Amino acid sequence: MDRLIIFDTTLRDGEQSPGAAMTREEKLRIAKQLERLRVDVIEAGFAASSNGDFEAIRSIAAAVRESTVCSLARANERDISRAAEALAGARSKRIHTFIATSPLHMEKKLRMSPDQVLEQARQAVRLARRFTDDVEFSTEDGSRSELDFLCRVIEAAITEGATTINIPDTVGYAVPEQYGRLLRELRERVPNSDRAVWSVHCHNDLGMAVANSLAGVLNGVRQIECTINGLGERAGNTSLEEVVMAVKTRHDVFGLEVGIDTTQIVASSKLVSNITGFPVQPNKAVVGANAFAHASGIHQDGVLKARQTYEIMRAEDVGWTTNRIVLGKLSGRTAFRQRVQELGIPIESEEELVAAFASFKDLADRKAEIFDEDIQALFSDEAVVPHNEYFRLVSLSQGSTTGERPHARVVFRVGAEEIDARSDGDGPVDATLKAIESKVGSGCELLLYSVNAITTGTEAQGEVTVRLARAGRIVNGIGSDPDIIAASAKAYINALNKLYTTAERINPQISLAP
Ligand code: KIV
Ligand code: ZN
Repeated sequence: MDRLIIFDTTLRDGEQSPGAAMTREEKLRIAKQLERLRVDVIEAGFAASSNGDFEAIRSIAAAVRESTVCSLARANERDISRAAEALAGARSKRIHTFIATSPLHMEKKLRMSPDQVLEQARQAVRLARRFTDDVEFSTEDGSRSELDFLCRVIEAAITEGATTINIPDTVGYAVPEQYGRLLRELRERVPNSDRAVWSVHCHNDLGMAVANSLAGVLNGVRQIECTINGLGERAGNTSLEEVVMAVKTRHDVFGLEVGIDTTQIVASSKLVSNITGFPVQPNKAVVGANAFAHASGIHQDGVLKARQTYEIMRAEDVGWTTNRIVLGKLSGRTAFRQRVQELGIPIESEEELVAAFASFKDLADRKAEIFDEDIQALFSDEAVVPHNEYFRLVSLSQGSTTGERPHARVVFRVGAEEIDARSDGDGPVDATLKAIESKVGSGCELLLYSVNAITTGTEAQGEVTVRLARAGRIVNGIGSDPDIIAASAKAYINALNKLYTTAERINPQISLAP
């Protein structure tokens, strides 16, 4: 095979990051973007983990037509049946079943003997095959498992009909040379290895997830499991954009084709970041704001003379636009709609477009030049809590004078009631959030507050992310505005809307026993 399968697990393993839990609508929105990105397999969730995740997988299975939709399942009857049920409406479906195979996990976590684990793996694959021809089997903690035992389990899984064999580096312990060798030896030693596609699934605890995955590819692996922005538990998973661009840019080394539409990479990164509230660090490869910025004079001079002197990829090939002024105050709805379509932003309904156009007009009154990034932010603001905005910002005024304590007045709606809140604070942002909190009384803890400039220059909009925690539940809110105090108020209110929404937020695996 000269094709590399891209298996995206943003909606399953990525969602396991504390605070990244998503609603069904949010997962569906990301799944549709992953389909636009043309990933081969979307791991939509873990059906048996909660009713919310089950429903999310069901909706994604019904909506996605171009990618295979997959659900995770432990190696037991209930999990596999739930996965099959959730995937029933998919055009192309995969069940991904797993069991731990390392001595440590088998003895301490599963309290099972190797023979029992082998038998359970065998039965799980056999059962999964009753529902679909496309069954993936994973050996959890595979990189710390014994080679001989791994060979026995994998041979049995393939005999039972597993079509993909995945060797996870669950705790991010592997190093490239050793992990690559493990994959090669397994492929050489398992007698029926040629009947399955081999896959890698790496965590980034030592910062080597991408390198480990690529080491697997150089040793015959033909599927990489990864997430947008490298989202995932602890230090995250292999980053989709990095492995895809590595394989494409270094075709001379890997010699493989990938089906990804790379021009959708930045849009996917922004959508995931906006929905989860996990900002992308500016120096992140491929999707960071500085990934293509040349600040040094020598580099700028070189790039102007011949682009390839300092650029190995083209920004536009991964979907970066160039801070071009696209629209202004006088632009009409038709021009707005056209640009939105060109940016690949899905419009769910005419009402959504009308609401976004009204916000655009409002922004254009306050900001002379509207860039693509501003339009994208407008939609992410609208999209986060589109239909059930219980709290809504009406107006904000605040004052800070050197030597005096800043104060803020925030008028906002709670349902039909208009509330007038005032407070002072250590700074204008603090005063604004305290004013809102003084009336809402949510009692939540602020875990994170961050501001990013959406475009360059002092006239850029600020995008604020806040993360709130209350009674074990963590939510992220985002807000953007040319005035960063207003962006902060919007982000806080956005997070409150999520905190008080009735929609179940999905938290797969976290509460599950092995
Ligand atoms: O990291 C891991 O081992 C996993 C498996 C369930 C595939 O996520
Ligand atoms: Zn994982």
